[in-house]
Amino acid sequence: MFTSKCLILRRLPTSCRRHRFTPALGRAAGSTFVLGIETSCDDTGAAVLDETGVILGECLHSQKQVHLRTGGIVPTVAQQLHRENIARVVREAVERSGVTPGRLSAVATTVKPGLALSLGVGLQFSLDFVKCHGKPFIPIHHMEAHALTVRMLQPVAFPFLVLLISGGHALLALARGVDDFLLLGRTLDEAPGDTMDKVARRLSIVKHPKCSTLSGGQAIELLAKQGQRRKFPFTTPMGQYYDCNFSFAGLRNQVTMAIKKQEHEEGIQPGTLLSCVNDIAAATQHTVASHLARRTHRAVLFCKAKGLLPLSRPTLVVSGGVASNQYIREALTVITEATGLHLLCPPAKFCTDNGVMVAWNGIERLREGKGILPHDVDVSYEPKAPLGVDITAEVKEAAIKVPSVKLRIDD
Ligand code: KG4
Ligand code: ZN
Repeated sequence: MFTSKCLILRRLPTSCRRHRFTPALGRAAGSTFVLGIETSCDDTGAAVLDETGVILGECLHSQKQVHLRTGGIVPTVAQQLHRENIARVVREAVERSGVTPGRLSAVATTVKPGLALSLGVGLQFSLDFVKCHGKPFIPIHHMEAHALTVRMLQPVAFPFLVLLISGGHALLALARGVDDFLLLGRTLDEAPGDTMDKVARRLSIVKHPKCSTLSGGQAIELLAKQGQRRKFPFTTPMGQYYDCNFSFAGLRNQVTMAIKKQEHEEGIQPGTLLSCVNDIAAATQHTVASHLARRTHRAVLFCKAKGLLPLSRPTLVVSGGVASNQYIREALTVITEATGLHLLCPPAKFCTDNGVMVAWNGIERLREGKGILPHDVDVSYEPKAPLGVDITAEVKEAAIKVPSVKLRIDD
C-alpha cells in the first residue's frame, strides 16, 4: 500500500493545467511549495500552493450527495469514501500544480478536530507520503486553517476577530498570530450548520425540486427567500447570559415542535413537504442569524473594552460553511457597521472545507517555523481539540451588555 502510493505520485506528468488565483498584492512568486490535505469531515481535498498564496493545483471530492441520500454523515461511510478517493484527489492536485513531489517543501494535513474515522484516512495517507518522499510534516488544526484562509486572499494583519461557523463548529476567537488564538466563545451544544441540516432533514427539504442537491443550510437559505419569518416567532437562545457562547439545540427543539404542530393541522405525515416550509426556513435562518450577530456584537465590545483590537482598521473575519449564507453575512454587517469594524468573508468556495486552506496554513507555519515535524514522526489525530487559550469564563465575567441594534434584516 505504501509503495503503491509512492508509485502513483512518481508517475505524475509535470505539465498540467494550473488554477491561478490572484494572491494578496505585494508578494513575489517563489519556490516554496506546500501540499495541503483535508479529510476532517466529508470533503476529501488537496491543493498545492506556493508561498505567495497562488493555488498551483487543487482537487476536491465532496461526499455531500451520498450523505444527503443517507440523511446525514455516517462516519464509516465517510471513511470509506475518503479511502476510495484520497490517492486520486492528491494525485490530481499535485499533477495540476506541475510540482513534482520531490520539489514540495512540506505536507500539511488536518489532524484535528473532526470525525476520527475521517481524520485517520488523511493522516495515514500523509504520513506514508512524507516518509516516502522524505518531506517535513505540518499537522493542521482545522479551525486555525478556516481562520487564516482570509490572509491568503488579502493582507489582514493580526490581531483580528474571527467568527467560525460550520456544520461542526461555532466559535468566536481573537487571532493574535498564526498559532496564537484567544477563544472568546463556542457552541455549548450543536453547530449552526448542523442545526440547519437537521431542520432541513426534518422538513424533508431534499424532496423540494429546487433543493435535491443542496446542503441543509443552502436549502434553508434558498427557501427562506420566499418565506415570512414572522409567522414562526422562534426565540433567540440564552438572552439571559452575558457571554459569547452559542446554543442552537433550543431553537431546533422549537422548530421540531412547530413542524409537528403544522403536520397535525395539515393532516400530513412526517416526510411530506409542509405548505409553510418557506416560512419555517425563514424563521430558522433569522433566529440563527440574530443569535450569531448578538454574540459577535458582544465579542467586539469585549475586545474593544480590553484593548485587544487595533485602533486602525479593526477587522472581523467570518468563515466556515455557514459563512456563505448571505442573510447571515448581512446581519453581521449591521454589527460591524455599528461598531466600526471591517467585515471580511472569503468567497463561498474558500469558506467550506477544502485542501487550499490547509496548504495555506502550512505556508503560514512554514514561514514562521512553527509546528514543522520531521518525515519519520508519529502523529495522532485528535477528534476534539479546542482552538487557542480559552478565556470564555473571563468574557462571561465581564458581563458586557449589548445595546439593541435593529438588524436591517428585521423587515
Ligand atoms: O465548513 P464546512 O464545509 O464543513 C464543516 O466543517 O462542517 O460546512 C458545512 C456546513 C453544512 O452544515 C452546511 O449546511 C452549511 O455549512 N452551509 C450553509 C450554507 N452553505 C453551507 N449554511 C447556511 N447557508 C449556506 N448558504
Ligand atoms: Zn470546516
